[in-house]
Amino acid sequence: MEVVITTTVEDAGRVVADVVTQALHGGARVLGLATGSSPLAAYRELARRHREEGLSFAGVRAFLLDEYVGLPASHPQSYARVIRTELVDAVDLDPAGVHGPAGDAADVLAEARRYDEALRAAGPVDLQVLGIGVNGHLGFNEPGSSLASRTRVKTLTARTRQDNARFFTGADAVPRHVITQGLGTITEARHLVLTASGEHKAAAVAAAVEGPVTASCPASVLQLHPRVTVVVDEAAASGLAQAEHYRDVLAHKIAGQGY
Ligand code: F6R
Repeated sequence: MEVVITTTVEDAGRVVADVVTQALHGGARVLGLATGSSPLAAYRELARRHREEGLSFAGVRAFLLDEYVGLPASHPQSYARVIRTELVDAVDLDPAGVHGPAGDAADVLAEARRYDEALRAAGPVDLQVLGIGVNGHLGFNEPGSSLASRTRVKTLTARTRQDNARFFTGADAVPRHVITQGLGTITEARHLVLTASGEHKAAAVAAAVEGPVTASCPASVLQLHPRVTVVVDEAAASGLAQAEHYRDVLAHKIAGQGY
């Protein structure tokens, strides 16, 4: 696992954008996309590189991590709509090649299985962008999720509904259920890049990177993956016991080492 600690959120966004850019230049054709606040700086930077430097996503397909049950893709807070606004419309990603679970499917259990199979058929995902919940969730795999889980319907914790209340009229308006890629599904991607910022994420980042591998911190499953890049600002890195070593590694990288 490579841990990159940056001074600001914008710097973290540039590093994540570098990882995505390298993947695209290296021939990546399937991207995994997270929504929420964490990847926004990276998506803004990718949009800038597309506008000003000709970075192209042509021919790339993208798969979302998760979706709220009950929200149609037209709902302003559906992740299908959010990713459209935050990234797809700002670059040359073909909207027809951007996939997510249908939160308004009549049979959401079957929809979760269908999505998992679609991912398997299209995959493996070359690069998966990830955020992390304050409680260590990855995708919407809340604490207690099997580390081997596949895409399925999950129930959000009260904490996550509270955290996401800012996108709705309040916590009660946040859907209770989601369809989320499982931890086993997510870790099939070739390369995982997780980004977090702010002190409220520090404990979760420390548990995921340096704590025991446990379903109690779903993001700790990253430790089992051979290629992970964690990009955090100083506040989110403030709980890391080995922070000095990560900085040292970065300062003395040899050509080709790391992301
Ligand atoms: C979003 C997702 C979630 C978020 C996490 C952090 O697609 O899967 O795991 O990455 O809840 O959310 P933010 O970035 O809003 O703090």
